[in-house]
Amino acid sequence: MTSTLITGIGELTTNDPQLGRLTDAALVFTDGRVDWVGPASSAPAADSRVDVAGRAVLPGWVDSHTHLLFAGDRTAEFEARMAGLLYTAGGIAVTVEATRAASDGDIADNLRRHVAEAVAQGTTTIETKTGYGLNVVDEVRSARIAALEADEVTFLGAHLVPPGADADEYVALVIGDMLDAVAPHVRWADVFCERGAFDEDQSRAVLEAARAKGLGLRVHGNQLGEGPGVRLAVEVGAASVDHCTYLSATDIDALANSSTVATLLPACDLSTRQSLPPARQLIDAGATVALASNCNPGSSYTTSMAYCITTAVLQMHMTIEEAVTAATLNGAKALRRTDIGHLSPGARADIHVLDAPSTTHLAYRPGVPLTHAVWRAGVRQR
Ligand code: NIG
Repeated sequence: MTSTLITGIGELTTNDPQLGRLTDAALVFTDGRVDWVGPASSAPAADSRVDVAGRAVLPGWVDSHTHLLFAGDRTAEFEARMAGLLYTAGGIAVTVEATRAASDGDIADNLRRHVAEAVAQGTTTIETKTGYGLNVVDEVRSARIAALEADEVTFLGAHLVPPGADADEYVALVIGDMLDAVAPHVRWADVFCERGAFDEDQSRAVLEAARAKGLGLRVHGNQLGEGPGVRLAVEVGAASVDHCTYLSATDIDALANSSTVATLLPACDLSTRQSLPPARQLIDAGATVALASNCNPGSSYTTSMAYCITTAVLQMHMTIEEAVTAATLNGAKALRRTDIGHLSPGARADIHVLDAPSTTHLAYRPGVPLTHAVWRAGVRQR
């Protein structure tokens, strides 16, 4: 057993209801778990000691929504969008074609590169999805490769009806042979419940079949307009409904009275030139709000959780504390994890040191890379 003392912490965000936020603090972790948190003056001895010289320390980011099993490039689509073209999600088919044509090694290398990029910016837990295979062979391959690098893997065979396929026949495949083959490799299933993707009945069929297989549920909902996604997610008890860009008062009320986390993806809304989600109304109503990057080559090509936080504070009127909680503890809730997203004794030692005296600097210094050091399960990453 090897213990490490981090001392000289100017501001320590624990996300622990008892400990709260400490100043002039210290933290000890041993073999991947936090085992002591408190004032620097009463810190116990440890095998090694790191003095962070007044910097802020917080839990690593929990990025609960990404799509990193892909190949190819969609710069041209982005440029067309910036010139005024609407985002319709039809570009998913472009990535499907490139992904099917890529080797296992190329897909794995691309995944590894993006995970490393995220970790270097303070992300210590990452969820990722299939969804650019859209046939049995390529969905299984994506799930298998994802499990090598990602902490949480989601089956998104119901991302888009592949061009030329019949929608009902495709749903039958997703909930039949595809689900049977992918389920052993994943913990979660998801469906893109949106006009142009899967309607309410099709989405419900996917979610019910996945639940019968023992998978946890997530939903892409209300991204491009109001619709049934949020209602359905709450009805089936999904862990999260992601996007939530266009919500009715009834949707907000439903989320506030449920255990389904509203995961907001502001980088996606900006990159697709949409309005930002009603974070303030959700929080004020009592809903649990998470923030995630939605890193994917089409609608949101960033791994930066700090960018999401900056946007949430500057443009969505979340407080810095709400935004940091949304990107850590509430991301963990969206993944139904209790061991991450906080720094209570017993938690996984996922530790993010900022090159700043407080988390306020995440919004006060927009665009400035502030990650100074990262430990993931007690292992130094940078
Ligand atoms: O979350 N909404 C569907 N899926 C992705 C977009 C993927 C793409 O355009 O390639 C999203 O935005």
